[in-house]
Amino acid sequence: MKPLRLLFEIAGQVDIKDKEVFNVGCGRGSNSVGVEKYYKAAFLRRPQPHRRICTFRPVRHKGSNMFFFVGDAENLPFEGETFKFGVQLESRHPDIHKFYDSMYRVLKTGDHIQYGDMLPTDKWQDYDQYLISLSFEILCNQDIT
Ligand SMILES: C[S@@+](CC[C@H](N)C(=O)[O-])C[C@H]1O[C@@H](n2cnc3c(N)ncnc32)[C@H](O)[C@@H]1O
Repeated sequence: MKPLRLLFEIAGQVDIKDKEVFNVGCGRGSNSVGVEKYYKAAFLRRPQPHRRICTFRPVRHKGSNMFFFVGDAENLPFEGETFKFGVQLESRHPDIHKFYDSMYRVLKTGDHIQYGDMLPTDKWQDYDQYLISLSFEILCNQDIT
């Protein structure tokens, strides 16, 4: 699926205008640009682990409100309840439970994450149960292949 199509599929019709968006595992950042451009987010923080893409210190993307951070999505270097809206597209985490734990910790209570990933279909139910055990409420869950 083409990156922007994937973003529209996952982020859908949410209203994140002027909100702070947290894009986990941003890669080269094309979807972050899409979130900023099409959803008019206030700003984005985009942790991702490779220093060849991100510098060590938080840096601001020139001419925009995007900030890059080096960080492991499975152990996010932020205080609890820091973010209002999270988005994650196709990071393929080796340990998805740690990613869920980490996201649950950094998201503010009552706020949410929209994410899409390549997941084995026989594990869907287990993953859902795990999310529920963390106290996430699943509002939508669908196969987008
Ligand atoms: C297939 S790319 C997708 C990139 C981006 N989300 C996009 O849609 O363009 C997967 C990305 O997930 C990142 N990633 C994988 N595991 C990660 C982790 N534990 N912490 C942070 N980023 C991670 C990789 O560095 C890579 O940039």
